[in-house]
Amino acid sequence: MCGIIGYVGKKAAAPILLEALRRLQYRGYDSAGIAVLSDDGRLTVRKKVGKLDDGLARLVQDQPVTGHLGIGHTRWATHGPPSDENSHPHLDQSGKIAVVHNGVIENCDRLKERFLKAGHIFRSATDTEVLAHLIGDHYDRQPRANGQPASLTQAVCDALREVIGTYGIAVISSEHPGLIIGARRGSPLIIGIGDNENFLTSDSNAIVAHTRQVVFLNDYDVATVTAERFDVQNLGADTAKVQISRLEFASEEAERGAYSHFMLKEIFEQPRAVENALRGRIDFEAATARFGGLNMTVAELRSIERIVIGATGTSWHAALVGEYLIEQLAHLPVEVEFSHEFSTRNAPLQRDTVLLVLSQSGETADTLGALREAKRRGHRALSIINVVGSTIARESDGGIYMHAGPEIGVASTKAFVSTLTILSLLAVHLGRMRMLSAAQATEILRALEAAPAQLQSILAQDAAINKLALKYASADDFFFLGRGYTYPIALEGALKLKEISYIHAEGYSAAEMKHGPIALIDPKTPVVFVIPQDSMYEKTLANLAMIRARRGPIIALATEGDTQIQNVADDVFYLPKTLEPIYPILAAVPLQLLAYHIAVSRGCDVDKPRNLAKSVTVQ
Ligand code: AGP
Repeated sequence: MCGIIGYVGKKAAAPILLEALRRLQYRGYDSAGIAVLSDDGRLTVRKKVGKLDDGLARLVQDQPVTGHLGIGHTRWATHGPPSDENSHPHLDQSGKIAVVHNGVIENCDRLKERFLKAGHIFRSATDTEVLAHLIGDHYDRQPRANGQPASLTQAVCDALREVIGTYGIAVISSEHPGLIIGARRGSPLIIGIGDNENFLTSDSNAIVAHTRQVVFLNDYDVATVTAERFDVQNLGADTAKVQISRLEFASEEAERGAYSHFMLKEIFEQPRAVENALRGRIDFEAATARFGGLNMTVAELRSIERIVIGATGTSWHAALVGEYLIEQLAHLPVEVEFSHEFSTRNAPLQRDTVLLVLSQSGETADTLGALREAKRRGHRALSIINVVGSTIARESDGGIYMHAGPEIGVASTKAFVSTLTILSLLAVHLGRMRMLSAAQATEILRALEAAPAQLQSILAQDAAINKLALKYASADDFFFLGRGYTYPIALEGALKLKEISYIHAEGYSAAEMKHGPIALIDPKTPVVFVIPQDSMYEKTLANLAMIRARRGPIIALATEGDTQIQNVADDVFYLPKTLEPIYPILAAVPLQLLAYHIAVSRGCDVDKPRNLAKSVTVQ
């Protein structure tokens, strides 16, 4: 999942493209490149393997490019390893057309074969270069009226009709000064509307410093963009649906500010993220929660017989907590599915089953696939999403926005805690239509209201967590254990540590250890227990004793005032007291900080961990 950018206007394109790529890097950062068309019609490409500031930015500094039109790309390799040659942009056979692409061209081998037979020369191993040659081929085959250049828009449309796969692309040509063509299918693409300048990008973070007026393109849309105007047509329909939206966040929110990493900034933004998730949604008078965008009547909500929650990664861990919340507070059967399994498993679904998908980015292809599968089978598909205007949000039948603000750090943090907060509200909302009493609901809502201040008190102990992290940072393996509501938090703690510190870590239900994994326990393998004083406390304590008996070092996340735990754990971090269903919101934060400080102490690039990207837009 790459990041693409296009600029046409009166300003110098190169600095705008580089700054935008800097903001897009969390989408992929193994190589980057730009193509700029100078006013005298020269198309110049600069591209380099490696992170932007070490590679491309230095190259452009040494070999500057001029021009007011350009495209750029930051890459997460799918076809061909990270290298200068495989970096984007890619040119067509004539060298006059440049393309940047986010997605996968599935039939690229067959197309490439055709061009190799026709004598084309390819310089890279990428599917995108094949797409560039395909566009160039259609461009060259167009009849030329009175020596007029062919239509670049037409060439792109004709080429895309031959393509199988996903794409978000931006295309420029040396024969068309002042023109960028953009198109999307499966990968996000946005037009940014400026003052005598326009942008194309895969993510609004890249352009919010220039404009907050955007158009989120739909699948099969093809946009023809100049500095003064843009036109959108749709390959599959007579007319394209074009709606201008206003971005709800400001440029500063997408900046790191004084924090050393976006991940740390976003961890410290969690009290506000929870406040934003709660804002305007608690109704103490009716002792319930209210949502404006579910697009379902009370009767329709009451007729739901089963909920399938689809998600991946950290969002999948939130789904597991959602299962406990909705089943316990609303007595509604819930099934949690990996989105990628749900969309291919063809599971039998009862009529009154609703699919709920969870996604920070709203662009995860696996989760978009699950949503489209449920809708194809005639089921209502709802979503909880952070990125406003994202594809999943726009294609859902109804949904709830997190309003957590931009999340740039690849390791998801505030979106996780925000999702847990919204799932708690949703469970109360559905529960109050079924068997949840006003008193029980009010207790939960009060505990949610108290959470932001409790998160503040946890964040205030960051130094203590850093000290703990340094004590265990040299370990090669970790276990994270929990039970009931905290079992998914153990999974999340393990994922956070894995994805940013590259330490092997496993999350398990504490009760499952004795059925095998306990064989791995030894004095060098720290075991983190998420063990608040909830209904699973005694049972988890018994599991903890089994680990202690095998001399595993124990770090316990316990409830303040729990004096017993000190006698059986090597280190204890105390959580403020709350209700059982709310401990996941509090317990996630110390585990995020533990992973963060261990990764920093090991010199890892926390915001751009190896092999990862923020939004996975390929299946
Ligand atoms: C989490 O830290 C990872 N970035 C990843 O597992 C992520 O949660 C997953 O790709 C789902 O992303 P989404 O919530 O944007 O759909």
